[in-house]
Amino acid sequence: MKDTFQREITYLRVSLTDLCNYRCRYCMKERGVEKKSHADLLTLEETFDVISAFKSLGGKKVRFTGGEPLVRRGAVSLIERVGRELDLEIGLTTNGVYLPEHIDRLKDVVSLVNVSIDTLDRDKYRFITMDGNLDDAIAGLVAAKKNVDNVKVNAVLMRGINDDSVKEFADFASDMGVTLRFIELMPFAENNAYDKFGISATEVIDRYGLTLVETVGNAEYYSFADGKRVGFIRPLSNKFCAECNRLRLTSDGKLLPCLHGEGEIDVKPYLKDGNVEDAIKEAISQKPFCHNIDGGKMQTRRMNYIGG
Ligand code: GTP
Ligand code: 5AD
Ligand code: SF4
Repeated sequence: MKDTFQREITYLRVSLTDLCNYRCRYCMKERGVEKKSHADLLTLEETFDVISAFKSLGGKKVRFTGGEPLVRRGAVSLIERVGRELDLEIGLTTNGVYLPEHIDRLKDVVSLVNVSIDTLDRDKYRFITMDGNLDDAIAGLVAAKKNVDNVKVNAVLMRGINDDSVKEFADFASDMGVTLRFIELMPFAENNAYDKFGISATEVIDRYGLTLVETVGNAEYYSFADGKRVGFIRPLSNKFCAECNRLRLTSDGKLLPCLHGEGEIDVKPYLKDGNVEDAIKEAISQKPFCHNIDGGKMQTRRMNYIGG
C-alpha cells in the first residue's frame, strides 16, 4: 500500500517487548525504572492478526525486534507461526544472547538475522551494555551464521568506543562471513548518549579513506583499500527517509508511522471490531515525509519501546 508520498509500505517492524536483558547506554531511559507494560501487551494471537492484516495490504517483510525480542515468552512460537502461515520474508534483530538456544527452531523460518554487537573489546562491550558479556553475543552470532545465510552485525557508531576500530571490525566480519553495518547514533530526548558518543559517519568514512561501492536499502557499503567491506546506516548525515518503506508495531499495540514521529494509532479497538486493516491504512496515511532531528525535533519515546 502507498503512503501520501507514493512510497510503497511493505516492511513491518514488530517490537515484541520493550524489556531487555541488557541496558545499552543509548537505548534505554538513563534514569528511573522502566515501566513494565505486561498488562497492555498485545497477545501473540493479536500480534499475529496485525501481521496477517499487513500482509493482506501488500506487506512483504516483517522483522521482529525488542527490547530483546527473544525475552518475550512465546516469541519463537509466534515467529514459527508467521513462517508457517504467512508468505513473508522474516527478519530478527537481536543482541544474540538467546540465539544458541532457539536457532534450531528459528532457522527454518527466519532468513535475515541481525545481531547487535557494538565493539569487540570485552571491557567496552560490558560498559556499553551495562554488564553484558561479549562472548555470549559472539556465540549467538556464530549460531546464526551456521544456520542462516543472511547474517548481519549492527554496531552503533560511537566516538571513543568503536570509531577507531572500524578496520578491525571489518576484518572480523570478513573472517566470519557476515555483513557489517555501523549505524549512526541517533539522539533521543530522554537520553544524552548522543552528547557523549555521537559522531558523524562522514568523519569516519573520510578518516579511513573509504570508497562507496553500493547502496542496499538504508545501508551504504564502502570498501577499504584491501577490498574488505563495511556498511553505514546514516539517518543523520545521509537521510534516507525518501525511500522509507516501514511501519512499526510496538508491543503494546501502537502503530507508529515514523521512528522519530509523535503520531501513533492504537490497534486494540480495531482488533476488537475486526477491522485491523483500517488501523494499518490509517497509520500509513499518517506517515510524515521525513524525520526532523536536524531541525531539533527529538523523539521522546525510548528506542527499546520503538524497536529500532
Ligand atoms: P535489514 O532487513 O537487514 O535491511 O535490516 P534493517 O536495517 O531494516 O533493520 P535493523 O533492525 O538491523 O535496523 C538497523 C537500524 O537502522 C535500526 O535499529 C535503526 O537504528 C536504523 N533504522 C532502521 N530503520 C530506520 C528508519 O526508518 N529511520 C531511521 N532514522 N533509522 C532507521
Ligand atoms: N541510535 C542508533 N541505533 C540505535 N539502536 C538502539 N538505540 C539506537 C540509537 N539511539 C540500535 C541497536 C540495534 C537496533 C535495533 O537499534 O543497536 O542494532
Ligand atoms: Fe537491549 Fe538492544 Fe536496547 Fe541494547 S540496544 S538495551 S540490546 S534493546
